[in-house]
Amino acid sequence: MNLADLNKIALAMVAPGKGILAADESSGTIKKRFDAINVESTEQSRRDYREMLFRSGEAMRQYISGVILYDETIWQDAADGTPLVRLIEQSGAIPGIKVDEGTQALPGCPGELVTSGLDRLAERLKKYYERGARFAKWRAVIDIGEHLPSMTAIHVNAHALARYAALCQAAQIVPIVEPEVLMDGSHDIDRCYDVTQRVLNKTFQELRVQRVALEGMILKPNMVISGKKNAKQASVEEVAEKTIRMLKACVPAAVPGIAFLSGGQSDEDASAHLSAMNGIGNLPWQLTFSYGRALQAAPQKAWSGKAENVVAGQRAFTHRARMNSLASRGEWKADLEKKAA
Ligand code: 13P
Repeated sequence: MNLADLNKIALAMVAPGKGILAADESSGTIKKRFDAINVESTEQSRRDYREMLFRSGEAMRQYISGVILYDETIWQDAADGTPLVRLIEQSGAIPGIKVDEGTQALPGCPGELVTSGLDRLAERLKKYYERGARFAKWRAVIDIGEHLPSMTAIHVNAHALARYAALCQAAQIVPIVEPEVLMDGSHDIDRCYDVTQRVLNKTFQELRVQRVALEGMILKPNMVISGKKNAKQASVEEVAEKTIRMLKACVPAAVPGIAFLSGGQSDEDASAHLSAMNGIGNLPWQLTFSYGRALQAAPQKAWSGKAENVVAGQRAFTHRARMNSLASRGEWKADLEKKAA
């Protein structure tokens, strides 16, 4: 492992004013997104859609540092035969790859999941590196319920994240470590704080045990936020203050950057929260976005599977990328949204 090079890539992934496009939806998930806009999900429609995003010149050059791809996409070519990976590189962004293989029921823990994909991961990483991937992603999923999560679920998921991260670094690939505490429940923000803190503490404990170099990784956490079904939704200021307090308590300063997931927040909430956090300032790490839905919902709608809508789709994507770029600098404002509409 060359740690100096891993650190350089990690820093580039969270370069000031830039963030990550999570375009790594599995075929099942992208089908759900396409169903919502009445587009049939085929190998070609998925390619056309993603090519539209990667050819959004201004967004890719100015606001996007890296793109997380799904296995199918990393091997696909654009309509003119250029590999999609090359399109990303030509824009100055770094190609990355989702390497987990989704979740499975965790035996002995009803309702809980563990992420799979460690078998043969070393060989897969080698092939992805040859194709151009310089970072990877692995997502663990933790649900909050009346008696959830169990210590078992937190432990096995943290262990798998650290196993994955160590394998990535051995393959000269920067791991994005993503322990996602879901926002789907009816819990309040303080319960989210408590669970996220336990999950991150366990994750960093496992990373240390397995000798992962913190300088060569990126953390992708959820924000500390009210459950979607809770009647009392915390304010933007409260989300920002509690998320920063929790991260400062759990995330060592050696980690170069934190790139949040959007997790089902509205587009504007995801930008407002990130901006408020960066407005607090004086942080030991770069704080940016690694959004899937909060970057793609608008372009998906504008595109709707029609070739004549490609420019409108790119415009919508560029707008969201710009809003989140401003947020990563603490400079997003609600009135900027209306002006661009
Ligand atoms: P969302 O921003 O839609 O949560 O997706 C980010 C991601 O990569 C989830 O694994």
